This record gives sequence, structure tokens and C-alpha cells, in this order.
Amino acid sequence: MADKYQQFTNSSVGKFLAPKLGLPMPTPLRRHKPGQAPLDGPALLGAAKGGRLEKTVAEQLNSAGIEVRTEAADDVKYGALVFDATGITDPAQLRELYDFFHPVMRQVGYCGRVVVLATPPELTSGRQQVAQRAIEGFTRSVGKELTKGATSQLVYVAPGSEDATESTLRFLLSAKSAFVDGQVIRVGTAGTGGAKITAPESWEKPLDGKVALVTGASRGIGAAIAEVLARDGAHVVVLDIPAQGADLSSVANKIGGSALQLDITAADAGTKLVDYFTERHGKLDIVVHNAGITRDKKLANMDDGRWNSVLTVNLLSQLAVNDTLLASSVLGENARFIGVSSVAGVAGNLGQANYGTSKAGVIGMVDSTAPAVAEKGHTFNAVAPGFIETQMTAKIPATIREPARRLSSLTQGGLPVDVAETIAWYANPASAAVNGNVVRVCGQALIGA
Ligand SMILES: NC(=O)c1ccc[n+]([C@@H]2O[C@H](COP(=O)([O-])OP(=O)(O)OC[C@H]3O[C@@H](n4cnc5c(N)ncnc54)[C@H](O)[C@@H]3O)[C@@H](O)[C@H]2O)c1
Repeated sequence: MADKYQQFTNSSVGKFLAPKLGLPMPTPLRRHKPGQAPLDGPALLGAAKGGRLEKTVAEQLNSAGIEVRTEAADDVKYGALVFDATGITDPAQLRELYDFFHPVMRQVGYCGRVVVLATPPELTSGRQQVAQRAIEGFTRSVGKELTKGATSQLVYVAPGSEDATESTLRFLLSAKSAFVDGQVIRVGTAGTGGAKITAPESWEKPLDGKVALVTGASRGIGAAIAEVLARDGAHVVVLDIPAQGADLSSVANKIGGSALQLDITAADAGTKLVDYFTERHGKLDIVVHNAGITRDKKLANMDDGRWNSVLTVNLLSQLAVNDTLLASSVLGENARFIGVSSVAGVAGNLGQANYGTSKAGVIGMVDSTAPAVAEKGHTFNAVAPGFIETQMTAKIPATIREPARRLSSLTQGGLPVDVAETIAWYANPASAAVNGNVVRVCGQALIGA
């Protein structure tokens, strides 16, 4: 699973040779460590005239321990450039993006962050709608220009949700979002219903008192999700098929959680989950549908067993479990449902008609379920990982694996922890207005961009 090319480019010979040959130079990414400063340098904060978020954002950054500057200076390497573009009501005003970012683009530090906050275009009209939509092209292009592990994101904040952005800003500015790049996130757009947007008592342990279920958690991305949710304070029940029982127990022991051997495709899986969580924990707060399989073949060569098994594990069983959970009384207040889609569900992939269908179905599940569960105070979001270093991707032939790793703005594969951190942001109690999102964890992969 090791990325040998990245090891080479970070050796002294590689550092000398790779730039001379015009080869990509993947930067080792800054990843979260407990107690770490949120940013490696101050944040420069700017706003278009009439912006409605600047004041709140300044307060939120200060409370996260980030030094905020509002005047640019030549000799500073910035940890982040943050711009409130909600005041832009006409395309002619897009020039304000140029005026703020152009002079300081060379001053974005190692693994620095660019974040633009704007108003969801679909909630505006006329020239304002044109202008707000245009910002997406700006942040996505900037993501492709930034170097040294820096990333660029756009956060569309619905009017009335100004106070609901703190968990999202903390996530995007920190090293927890290392492999999230070129994304568009919506806050407050899918309805927040009865959801309570509460800051956690401790940002180090935001999930204290929560009970979480992670499916497919005996290894790979699922094990990393379980570990991160437990680090954040949740009691995590890890679930996998009985054949994975030994690995599942060792994950549960490592994180102080519980192991549940269950095939998620069993007809009574939903009922068993309701009974298990009701009896042992009295509730269930966070559901992460991570279990997934691939059975690749070109469609012409694909037997119906491959089609059925992939659709059943990756989509149908999850819909059935959701229906049973939602019809029961086991869900706690402000529950979180989180799906795991894939870039193959966004862009399609050769030999993966079954997998691509199932993972696009997960996106459909978010679209159809998020507004409905918002009425109950819950949220439903998904991650769409790109190339992540796991046993699943280690099996890909080297000739396909190597380009898949490099064809992204960050020119490397992500780690399971990168997917896990994104899921932990969705699960945070302060993310109650983050609903209906599908965020790619793909280093801004060029496929399906
Ligand atoms: N690795 C990547 O690059 C990548 C990219 C995009 C999406 N994903 C998705 O991320 C998720 C995790 O991927 P991974 O790479 O860690 O895969 P993995 O194969 O290492 O782990 C998947 C786990 O799901 C479990 N599982 C399979 N069928 C199950 C069932 N019926 N009931 C319960 N558990 C079951 C497996 O036993 C396994 O432990 C999957 O949904 C996958 O499609 C992975």
C-alpha cells in the first residue's frame, strides 16, 4: 500500500531529479495531531462590501485559536486566506475576488487553506445568482493552482444560517481536511427542521455521550472511521460479517468499543440493530454506512451474481436498514446518517457499472432522505472518496493504480483517516445545518471534477 513514488520524490535524489524531469512532487500532507495549532500561520480575512458573514467568521476563527488579520502584509506566510463573498450581488463585483486574492496568492503557506463563503445561488435570482454561481469556478481553479499541499473550498451559507458555520470552518481550516480539495459545501440549505445547532462542550471530544454504528469496520476505511469517532468521544459499535470476526474484535478492543457480527444484507438486519442498540445503549446517534464491495467486470462479461451482490451490499441493504431505524424509536435527538459513496459514483468507472450504479445511488439516497429527516432534526450526508490507500485499492493493477494516484491536484492517494475526519465533521453536534452534502475526499481528482 506504500506510495513508493512519493517516498522517492521525498528522498534527496528524488528532490533533485523529479523537478528537473518535470515529474509531480507530492507534498507530504499535514495531518491532525491532538493539541496541534489549527493553522501554521495567521488567517487573512477579507469581505466584499455588504457581506453578512465577516463578523461572525472572525469570532469563530478567534474562538478556534486562529490569529485573524484583516490587512495584508508582504512578509507573512498565511495559514489561510478566507473571503466572505456574500456581498457580491452583481457579476461586475466578482472583481473583488481578484483584488483580495491576487496580491497574496504566493503567500499561502505549506498545506495552507483558501476558503470562500458565499450565498447558495439557488436561493438568489437574476444577476446575483449568476455572480454567486461564478464563484464555484474561482475556488475550483484556485485549488488546481495551489501547491505544497494547500487546498481551496467554497462554502455556500443559506441566509439565517450565519451562526451555523463554525464546525465547517474548523474542519476546512485544520489538518483534518488534508485530502479534501476543490469542494463545494452547503450549510443550511436542506432545511434544519428541529435540529439544534449546539457548540460541543469540548471541541476535542465533540461526540462525548454519543453512540455510533460503523458498518464494514474490521479494516480499511471503516476501522479508521471507528477510531476517529472514538477519539472524538463516541462509544462506537463496529459491525462486520462473521468471517471478519477476529479483526473486528481487535478494532473494538483498540478503541474501547463493541463488536457486532452481522451481515448487513440479512433480511432482519434492521430489526436486529434496533433491538441491539435499544437493549445495550438505549439509543443510536450516528449511523455510518461504510460496508461496501466491488465485483468488477465489463458489463458484457458481468454475471448477475456480481450485479446483485454489489447493489445489495452497497445500496439496497442500506435503504432497508434506514427505513427500519427511522420507523423505530431508537434514534437519539439530532441523529446523523452518513453514507460512503465514491468518485466512481460521480464519474463512472470502467468495469464498474454495478459499483458506479450503487455509489451514485448513495448520492440519490442523500438527495431524497436529507430533506425528510431534517423535519425530525436529523441530517443525512455522504463522503465520496477518490483514491484511498487500502486493501481494496492495493488490488488494482499497478498500471491503473499509479495514474489514479497522481491524477489529482494533490498528486497522491489519500489515507483512510482523511475519509474518517470528514465523517467526524458531519457527526459533530455543531454540524446540525450541514445536511444533504456529498463531499469528495479525493485531493481534487481530475476524474469527474
Ligand atoms: N478504498 C478506496 O479507495 C475507496 C474509494 C471510494 C469508496 N470507497 C468505499 O469505502 C468503503 C470502505 O472501503 P475499503 O477500501 O475500506 O474496503 P474494504 O474492502 O477494506 O472494507 C470493506 C468492509 O466491508 C465489509 N463488508 C462487506 N460486505 C459486508 C456485509 N454484507 N455486511 C457487513 N460488512 C460487510 C467487509 O468485510 C470489509 O471489512 C466502501 O464502501 C468502499 O466502496 C473506497
